[in-house]
Amino acid sequence: MATQYTVAVLGPGGTGGLLAALLTRSGHRVICLAQDSTADTLRRTGIAVRSAQFGEFTAPVQADTELREPVDACLITVKHTALDAALTRVPPTVLGDALVVPLLNGVEHPATLRARYRPDRVAPAVIRVESTRLAPGVIEHGSPFTEIDLAGDAVPRTRLDGLADALTAAGTTARAVGDETAALWAKLTFLAPFALLTTRYRLPLDEARTRHGEELEALVAEAAAVSLACGAPADPAQALRRYDAFPPGAKSSMQRDAEAGRPLELDPIGGALLRAAGRHDVPVPVTARLVRELRDAGH
Ligand SMILES: NC(=O)c1ccc[n+]([C@@H]2O[C@H](COP(=O)([O-])OP(=O)(O)OC[C@H]3O[C@@H](n4cnc5c(N)ncnc54)[C@H](OP(=O)(O)O)[C@@H]3O)[C@@H](O)[C@H]2O)c1
Repeated sequence: MATQYTVAVLGPGGTGGLLAALLTRSGHRVICLAQDSTADTLRRTGIAVRSAQFGEFTAPVQADTELREPVDACLITVKHTALDAALTRVPPTVLGDALVVPLLNGVEHPATLRARYRPDRVAPAVIRVESTRLAPGVIEHGSPFTEIDLAGDAVPRTRLDGLADALTAAGTTARAVGDETAALWAKLTFLAPFALLTTRYRLPLDEARTRHGEELEALVAEAAAVSLACGAPADPAQALRRYDAFPPGAKSSMQRDAEAGRPLELDPIGGALLRAAGRHDVPVPVTARLVRELRDAGH
């Protein structure tokens, strides 16, 4: 292995727990940052992964409630709903020169992180994976792929490439990409229509599409128009084709959160899309209605 990194993982859940376990397994030192009881469990049991791609394994990890030493990178893998509270565990003075790598869905959190940490060390990433935290330290990884695009227009390219190499050697497919806006919007334009439609109608994607196909097409067209207005390329036909590849019964994570009574990432996904549309005067009537209906339903 070329470089051994020390990596902090803030919020070792579905995505963070998987990456923490993979990085540990490939020889890096990982410090999970979590609430007290989760940190206790992780110190005792490590992280057990059951994965369609990587098999079953358990990785011992360090765990703490707060970052207390310098690291090479800090992966931010909490949900938006917990971001502000979780960031208090990572004091900017301790983090110093480390890369700050948020893997959250959405487009607005990089600004929050750049206001708190060194702006030229914030490297927003997009992750394509399906991974669930069943219990503290117990991760079920269902997708046969784990793909990560690392961006950060002001971050030195060698730093992005080094982390991408480490993540790839750990088993993921990771790469540094040149255009942060394009990377984040590509994910949002794909995710928002899928999440909003399936959550609003409480149907898996295939059924939602059969019953509300025109709405899905309108959502995709609106998201693409906003993306273009924000300076990111968009291909609505390709987005629709990607949905074709989903297996019958596929649900969005927003829909699963709604079913479980958990808070939704509605604002960072739907709300962010509406705010960007408003800034650029792009009409998004279908997106606005679905977001309103979800909010009216108490989400
Ligand atoms: N999961 C996926 O397949 C997937 C795929 C693509 C993108 N994403 C995005 O990745 C982000 C994370 O999602 P996820 O599914 O990984 O979430 P998750 O499974 O719910 O994990 C979040 C973790 O954050 C921890 N946490 C919550 N509040 C905290 C706090 N104040 N301090 C420290 N830790 C705290 C939770 O700890 P406890 O365990 O102690 O409750 C949990 O382990 C989201 O933006 C999501 O949209 C997820």
